[in-house]
Amino acid sequence: MYSASQIQHLEKISRALLKKNATAGNIEELRNALRFHEYRYYVLNDPLISDTEYDQLYKQLEALEKEHPELITKNSPTQRVGSTLNASFPTVQHLVPMLSLDNSYNEDDLIDFDRKARENTRLDIIEYCVEPKFDGASISLIYEDDELSRGVTRGNGVEGEEITTNIKQVRSIPLSAKFSDYNIQLAEIRGEVLMSKKSFKKYNELMEEEGLPVLANPRNAASGSLRIKDPKLVAKRSLEAFLYHVSYYTTLEGKKVSDEKDHSKENISKKEAPFITHSESLRMLWDLGFRSPEKEKKVVKGIDKVIEYCKEYEKKRDDLPYEIDGMVIKVNDLVLQDQLGMTSHHPRWAIAFKFKARQGTTKLIGVEFNVGRTGAVTPVAKLDPVHIGGVTVTSISMHNEDYIKEKDLRIGDTVLVERAGDVIPQIVKSMPEVRKGSEKIIHYPKNCPVCNSELFKEEGEAVWRCINIECEAQVVEKIIHFVSKDAMDIKHFGAANVIKFYEMKLLKDIPSIYTLDFEKISELEGFGKKSIDNLRTAIEDSKQQPLHRLIYALGIRYVGETTAKTLANAVKDIFDFSAMSIEDLQNLEDIGIKVATSIYGFFQNDDNIQILKRLQDLGLNMKNTKKQSSSSLNTLQEQTFLFTGTLNKLKRTEAEELVEKHGGKIVSGVSSKLNYLVVGEDAGSKLEKAKKINTVKVISEDDFLELIK
Ligand code: IVH
Repeated sequence: MYSASQIQHLEKISRALLKKNATAGNIEELRNALRFHEYRYYVLNDPLISDTEYDQLYKQLEALEKEHPELITKNSPTQRVGSTLNASFPTVQHLVPMLSLDNSYNEDDLIDFDRKARENTRLDIIEYCVEPKFDGASISLIYEDDELSRGVTRGNGVEGEEITTNIKQVRSIPLSAKFSDYNIQLAEIRGEVLMSKKSFKKYNELMEEEGLPVLANPRNAASGSLRIKDPKLVAKRSLEAFLYHVSYYTTLEGKKVSDEKDHSKENISKKEAPFITHSESLRMLWDLGFRSPEKEKKVVKGIDKVIEYCKEYEKKRDDLPYEIDGMVIKVNDLVLQDQLGMTSHHPRWAIAFKFKARQGTTKLIGVEFNVGRTGAVTPVAKLDPVHIGGVTVTSISMHNEDYIKEKDLRIGDTVLVERAGDVIPQIVKSMPEVRKGSEKIIHYPKNCPVCNSELFKEEGEAVWRCINIECEAQVVEKIIHFVSKDAMDIKHFGAANVIKFYEMKLLKDIPSIYTLDFEKISELEGFGKKSIDNLRTAIEDSKQQPLHRLIYALGIRYVGETTAKTLANAVKDIFDFSAMSIEDLQNLEDIGIKVATSIYGFFQNDDNIQILKRLQDLGLNMKNTKKQSSSSLNTLQEQTFLFTGTLNKLKRTEAEELVEKHGGKIVSGVSSKLNYLVVGEDAGSKLEKAKKINTVKVISEDDFLELIK
């Protein structure tokens, strides 16, 4: 896409523009620099400038265009964010129907597919292009005279909804691309819009904190996002896109070439054609600045190699930042594709290889109502045990009353359950078609299932709550949350012990965790010296947990892990919050009025402050160790780290957390600001780049573990 000299040039220009603002005279230079950095960030995932530097350039352009509105161009980077709402999404026809693919589930299916393809083409061996099957929402885009002119959902395959404004919010989709360099006047291209696992988790966390419905999987999140009326909200969902197919194009001379027989690929001579194999089309898209599966695909000869690559990829599935549900195998030569043609449903030149399913159907056999730490009463579906991707699922949260109504869930229903990657299982839908008539409507309780006091629901909220602050369930749940893995992570404690100790009156509130009477506990069955020592050490160790964990552990309403991190970064000491106004809190990233009000309320409440003071006296860390570099864990002292490739001992998130815990920082790309690149297996371009910068130390996962010891 960009040559080495262009990269150098654009980098130089960017540095200059960061020092001295652009003017009307060099506005196009500024735009080109921004386009280049968007490409580095969103397509290559390898930025060359920091987020703040990018923002500075973007703000320059916004200001210049405000001053000189006559200089605004249609494909200016500022023109992605539409301000007008989408009134409706008109239905439009695809230029070529979007067929679906035939599915295969095992080696035999693939061998069969290859045999038929060989028979039909009378060839001994066929070359295939194998690429991931992205699990998102399919879209089709039209570029006309090098500009994005239309974006459409798949719809029924023949017609879809026109969602151009929303498509423009996907930063990896270029607003313009030089198709004319390839002799193309108009092109219809296809791909998949995705939400990364990380963005999806963050999104659901926010929804959960706000008491709004969570989504079952990133696929639903992506397709739902594309239909939001307000493009600004779409932009906030951080969608991504892979483009993997050119279904139709016209040449500058007016020749039409398409998937369909009437304008088949035989219409164009090999010399005139911009590409003659599928992999060449991926290469073209990549060179035009699209995120095509250029790096993910593999071209192989013969079905054995196809099978090998599919298996290899299935192993990697959980380590990818986005969801894939299989692989797609395509005959690489486009003339052969034409020869094979289509059935009425799918092409004969391609097949999907589906990975082990993460969905299953089962019976909803009952409902329990649990009282949480905020008094929220959550319905939990009890299921006939169902095995999904190696895990047995027996119960699933149904979140709230609206969720049950929306999905029309009844006791006795057959339900579709999904466990997407490391996401907690969700009920995707019920199946009213197979009801027998004996299914029972789920009645929500009017009183707290634990203390029997009346339940209340606030205006505009979906959640029924027990508001009795002495309700045992809430006190116990607060303590369970405090000790849990994502909060203070006090190992060997666990929900069962919390309940046991509470019933024995050894625990009454959070601070009492740190004054447990171990003598009494040692009298209990199952508590030998070893387990008591383990518990005692775990409790003691938790006193040094970083501030964000403590904030999250306090269970302040609407404060999830992400918000807790934002909060911890904003102060030196937890007591600083007492001096902050609602407005101060709202100035922090992603904290709205509702969340700010809740945090403010918590720190204005004297009982809460007393609890915090007791915790401080008991020796808990109340300070932001990043701002106060006095922590004993501060071994990495502001050093910057980046991980690349597959790690063997740690999960990526664990490794990153370790860095932060030890006072280091994670950065997003390789640059001279990077101190350590930690390389796992199959490290790619980041490693190559790091080798060229001699200040970057390249270390292995083991070296890293040694470093933080
Ligand atoms: S090719 C005519 N390639 O899977 C061939 N499809 O049922 C067009 N999909 O609707 C499809 N990743 O939404 C192709 N690398 C990939 C894909 C892919 C995901 C989706 C696509 C399609 C469905 C197949």
